[in-house]
Amino acid sequence: MKLQDTKLTVSEIKEKVNRYMIETYERYDFLAETAKDQYIYDEKGEPYLDFYAGIAVNSVGNCNEKVVEAARKQTGEIMHTFNYPYTIPQALLAEKICTTIGMDKIFFQNSGTEANEAMIKMARKYGVETYGPEKYHIVTAAMSFHGRTFGSMSATGQPDNGCQIGFGPMTDGFAYAEYNNLQAFYDACDENTIGIMVEPVQGEGGVHPATKEFLQGLRKLCDEREMLLMIDEVQTGWCRTGEIMSYMHYGIKPDLVTMAKAMGGGMPIGAVCATEKVAKAFNMGSHGSTFGGHPVCCAAALAAIDELLNRHLKDNAAEMGSYFMDKLKNLPHIREVRGQGLLVGVEFDDAISGIDVKHGCLERHLLITAIGEHIIRMIPPLIITKEDCDKAFAILKDTVESLA
Ligand SMILES: Cc1ncc(COP(=O)(O)O)c(C=O)c1O
Repeated sequence: MKLQDTKLTVSEIKEKVNRYMIETYERYDFLAETAKDQYIYDEKGEPYLDFYAGIAVNSVGNCNEKVVEAARKQTGEIMHTFNYPYTIPQALLAEKICTTIGMDKIFFQNSGTEANEAMIKMARKYGVETYGPEKYHIVTAAMSFHGRTFGSMSATGQPDNGCQIGFGPMTDGFAYAEYNNLQAFYDACDENTIGIMVEPVQGEGGVHPATKEFLQGLRKLCDEREMLLMIDEVQTGWCRTGEIMSYMHYGIKPDLVTMAKAMGGGMPIGAVCATEKVAKAFNMGSHGSTFGGHPVCCAAALAAIDELLNRHLKDNAAEMGSYFMDKLKNLPHIREVRGQGLLVGVEFDDAISGIDVKHGCLERHLLITAIGEHIIRMIPPLIITKEDCDKAFAILKDTVESLA
């Protein structure tokens, strides 16, 4: 829908949002009317360089032609059926994902938080049915982020964050341990623990990659105690970090893994994959979703995953990520540049506020996100080039210099 079709002004659009919508977002103050590849355009056709990709979603670029065409075609064939009949996009997508990442089974959901809910439910049911009624506890990491529905929110180890305040009590059955501290996880697990749930890179928590020792150690701990290793790849999955799944950097395999964001190429879809043994916990009637496995989303996801794989976008993510991170180290007021592939975080010293950098970049038509007080995060489409990185760097440099 374009502004000219509505006969409204930009101010009138903003007024309607402010008047009618329950606002929980700090909006970028511009109208995103169209988008293509690594650019978003406002109503005047002004380009904004997209280094947030709808929060790590548009990995194959905005409005990727193959994804758009797959969704358009499927929309005209069969749009929604619920999960009673067999549908072709579901079957093909399930096979594609399971065979690509080497998991046995998949359950489709609509978002990252739902994928995590399904993972938590599956682990709990498996634990209780296999070992007894108390075996449902899960250890997650402090500063983790797993979503905003009750299970995922309770799994999230950020009690002081706005995403939990006022919503208590959280769901029982979660304990939290310091990220990248293997001993802390050993200490937090007890005889009632069925699983350990972590992100391979803490994205919302400030862009902190797991160390090899930590993730491999968690795998060993889970093996020793017959617990499940549950990996949340909602943000890291599907090539963003330079591997198809971030856990692949570590030479480990989880028992359960969730995904969402990039897998749909811009359409809302999420999923949990599990080993055969654990997947059996879900049986007739035990879980479901009206829209999960929606044919249009599955068709789009199939096209997006084909694009990611056929265009070797994990390799571009690795190459551009390392090029960009090296450059970013030349910014003034840097405390640390960290990340994995094109999940990039920059922590500034106390003189520079991340929010101010975000706003300064927006004025200069670069879109990024800020986390906490001094961190910015960049999660661009995986199709970006060195020129895009140079352009983003120049804008960031100008912005930080103007703030210092
Ligand atoms: C690691 C992780 N898990 C879960 C979620 C929740 O995903 P969604 O917003 O699709 O529910 C997010 C969202 O940012 C995330 O980064």
